[in-house]
Amino acid sequence: MILITGATGTIGGEVLRLLAVRGARIRAMTREPARLRFPDGALIDVVQADFERAESLHSAVAGVDSVFLLTAPGTTGSVAEHDLALIQTARAQGVRKVVKLSAIGGKADHADDLPSPRHRAGEQALAASGLTWSTLRPSSFASNTLSWADAIRAGDPVPNMTGTGARPRDNG
Ligand SMILES: NC(=O)c1ccc[n+]([C@@H]2O[C@H](COP(=O)([O-])OP(=O)(O)OC[C@H]3O[C@@H](n4cnc5c(N)ncnc54)[C@H](OP(=O)(O)O)[C@@H]3O)[C@@H](O)[C@H]2O)c1
Repeated sequence: MILITGATGTIGGEVLRLLAVRGARIRAMTREPARLRFPDGALIDVVQADFERAESLHSAVAGVDSVFLLTAPGTTGSVAEHDLALIQTARAQGVRKVVKLSAIGGKADHADDLPSPRHRAGEQALAASGLTWSTLRPSSFASNTLSWADAIRAGDPVPNMTGTGARPRDNG
């Protein structure tokens, strides 16, 4: 059983779809189960849980072998706090492996090979957890440009998301 956190979002939704078509056993986590979309016929265990509520994470992780960990900036908590809450629960519940969706750092950090500051504490906690782990550090997704849609419709210039900075190197 693989727990997918962020399963209603851009990335988690696609991870869910790809694993479902491969026939993986999946548990999808969301605060609002009604928002969840998955392929017809897919057998998916849905769990209502919130990184802010430790007891809900216990139910989410119970009986799970692996976790896809996606923590997003939002109105509540920090990415680091949410990463730590899930990692601690995973250890306590005997999860074998956690795959953390991180992000590559920008050149402003003068360190192309580091994760973005937002994800550093979570990556470090996972590496020190004793669990089997992987971290993924993507660069900017093309879907970010959807945020330009209103400006384009209005005939306005589109914002340059990186200011004078360069896009981080893609690592293959
Ligand atoms: N966009 C990029 O170019 C890029 C590049 C590299 C890395 N990243 C990383 O990608 C991540 C964002 O992924 P995304 O774009 O897929 O996010 P998204 O579409 O905004 O989705 C956020 C997900 O997080 C869940 N969530 C938010 N707060 C939660 C909470 N308190 N408890 C439980 N679940 C919660 C939401 O679930 P519910 O609302 O259903 O509960 C939703 O499924 C960030 O960590 C970012 O650093 C992005």
